[in-house]
Amino acid sequence: MRDILKAPWMVEMIRTATNMYGHGWDERNGGNISLLLRKEDVDQYVNVWDVIRTIPTGFSAPDLEGKYFLVTGTGKYFKNVQYAPEVNLGLVRLTEGGRTAELLWGFADGGKFTSEFPAHMMSHVARLKVNPENRVVMHCHPANLLAMTYVHDLDSRSFTRTLWQMCTECIVVFPEGVNVLPWMLCGTNEIGEATAEQMETARLVVWSQHGIYGAGADLDETFGLIETAEKAAEIYMKIAHLPRKNTITDAQMHLLEDHFGVKAREGWLD
Ligand code: 13P
Ligand code: ZN
Repeated sequence: MRDILKAPWMVEMIRTATNMYGHGWDERNGGNISLLLRKEDVDQYVNVWDVIRTIPTGFSAPDLEGKYFLVTGTGKYFKNVQYAPEVNLGLVRLTEGGRTAELLWGFADGGKFTSEFPAHMMSHVARLKVNPENRVVMHCHPANLLAMTYVHDLDSRSFTRTLWQMCTECIVVFPEGVNVLPWMLCGTNEIGEATAEQMETARLVVWSQHGIYGAGADLDETFGLIETAEKAAEIYMKIAHLPRKNTITDAQMHLLEDHFGVKAREGWLD
């Protein structure tokens, strides 16, 4: 077996968690990441029939039967992932219609996957239907997006239009916009189901007064989505209390659509 800590996907996961911590998005144990892997990605590094222990998930997700995920642990600090990946991360395979996770590596102190596992797994199901290449679901607590949910109305169209107006390239990076959920109790199947439903139409879902979810084909794309939305929210929080003299108009956004070959969410531009 090859050294799992040198697997390209492991290296990328550790770098991403470290980078997210560096951005201040993941205080204490805040945030979680799940990365979908294929059997051929993992079977050079672990014996996939050597199950360390099984962990009930508390939900069912038949679409994910037999799928492998590298996932952050509950209560674990992103700050520490780089120093002790085998404690802070785990590699699991879902079985019994998604009701059970078989631990193949990691969670070495007896830990388990993030408390947001329902939102992650249900979001994977939703995004895979839109894009079979989707591999990543990422959650974190970026300060400006969070702040914005205290002072901006939470209608998804209106919230998105404000973000689009804050940086020229926002509409190019997330033309489908962001969907916004009201405050809900986190770590539950209910917020998981609500998030997954919103993931059917956008790769970004804001959890009001809590944080954001992103989904994408790889860790870079997903990180970049959140990074771009958070930059836009930062600009909003810098200018919201000042008289607005200029903006990016809808006509200019239509020019961006044409030039970059993207299509904004139907009906979200005038
Ligand atoms: P976990 O430590 O269980 O991943 O929870 C962190 C979090 O951000 C909850 O929303
Ligand atoms: Zn959170």
